[in-house]
Amino acid sequence: MTTVALAFSGGLDTTVCVPLLKEEYGYDDVIGVTVDVGQPASEFEEAADTAAALGLDHHVVDAKDEFAELCYGAVKANATYQGYPLGTALARPVIADGILELALEEGCDAVAHGCTGKGNDQLRFEAVWRGSELDVIAPVRELGLTRQWEIDYAAERDLPVEAGNEGVWSIDQNIWSRAVEGGQLEAPSYVPPEDIYEWTAEPEGETTIDVTFEEGVPVAVDGESMAPVELIEQLNEYAGAFGVGRTDVMEDRMLGLKVRENYEHPAATVLLTAHQALEDLVLTKQERSFKKGIEQEWSEKAYEGLVFAPLMDALEGFIDETQDVVTGTATVRVHAGSCRAVARDSEYAVYSEEMASFNTEDVAGIEQADATGVAKYHGLQERLANEVEAAPEKPELAPDGSGTDQ
Ligand code: ARG
Repeated sequence: MTTVALAFSGGLDTTVCVPLLKEEYGYDDVIGVTVDVGQPASEFEEAADTAAALGLDHHVVDAKDEFAELCYGAVKANATYQGYPLGTALARPVIADGILELALEEGCDAVAHGCTGKGNDQLRFEAVWRGSELDVIAPVRELGLTRQWEIDYAAERDLPVEAGNEGVWSIDQNIWSRAVEGGQLEAPSYVPPEDIYEWTAEPEGETTIDVTFEEGVPVAVDGESMAPVELIEQLNEYAGAFGVGRTDVMEDRMLGLKVRENYEHPAATVLLTAHQALEDLVLTKQERSFKKGIEQEWSEKAYEGLVFAPLMDALEGFIDETQDVVTGTATVRVHAGSCRAVARDSEYAVYSEEMASFNTEDVAGIEQADATGVAKYHGLQERLANEVEAAPEKPELAPDGSGTDQ
């Protein structure tokens, strides 16, 4: 008796995978697993209904808290990839892990997903799964399935896929972002219609939002303390009403394909903006600039679905070390779709009004005149370099750089 655990959404791809895993791959039994990272309720209903119609043993694993933790890790890392806050990318390893754990508990022999061979998700799932002893199966990729083939196959087998159920767009939603792709949106020259957006209203109106952090972790919005999942969900609704958090990007996938993607992520935008503003106040110049490189690396790895890599622990070691002082409140103004920091406050501010002010003199034994020596040295090397270059005796180079005598 062999069993395979399938990442199951109830959509066309994963629905056709159920009979294929038995017929083409020879498994005796298939169990469907849906991992909850904050998809809309309708997706769970669709999965449950489709599973029931297929006679599929279906499990739902709640990973919302674990996922929210990872999102807060992304806040500490100020993480975005080509402008997008990585919602889909961060969710995949969490989903893969949830499925693997259940598969092991249930004594499965293999794990399977319905991803195509063109996207990022196959790589993200398998980066987690291939660390186990279980077989990894990707029917859509391995059998070279096309959408049309799947539709015909489903019709022929009378599989429970409702025509039109898939909608015009392909949507991937979790608490961190809502990604919309496919159909006409694939054309980079196509201007998306307003109705691709569900979380964000047509940008208008304005308000300010206070976000309070403790050691880099968001703990309250407008003074009200909330647990991670609740805080993110409430902020999505609140800031979304002001049209905040839309991105329309040309995204370079891991396999090199350039694709057009649209995202909505109001909470992510507010939290990332507020966190950055607070860091700007409390970190030193050197910490801020060095951290940029760390953040870039963290974001790239996260995009690749490698949040469980040892490198991430090392990067987070640095990040966490910097977050001890990221405690305080930042205020952002959300206005007609924009979100910008307008105030920040922390007991750890690396800021002295006395020192920075034009109106005070002689603080910490330093007076204005002390800067004269610094001003004499500043730019010395650059001035010298320019002089050397401008010197008349310098031999003229031919355009090909080979010298003057040819
Ligand atoms: N391109 C994005 C990523 O790789 C997300 C794709 C989301 N999928 C969707 N069907 N909209 O992270």
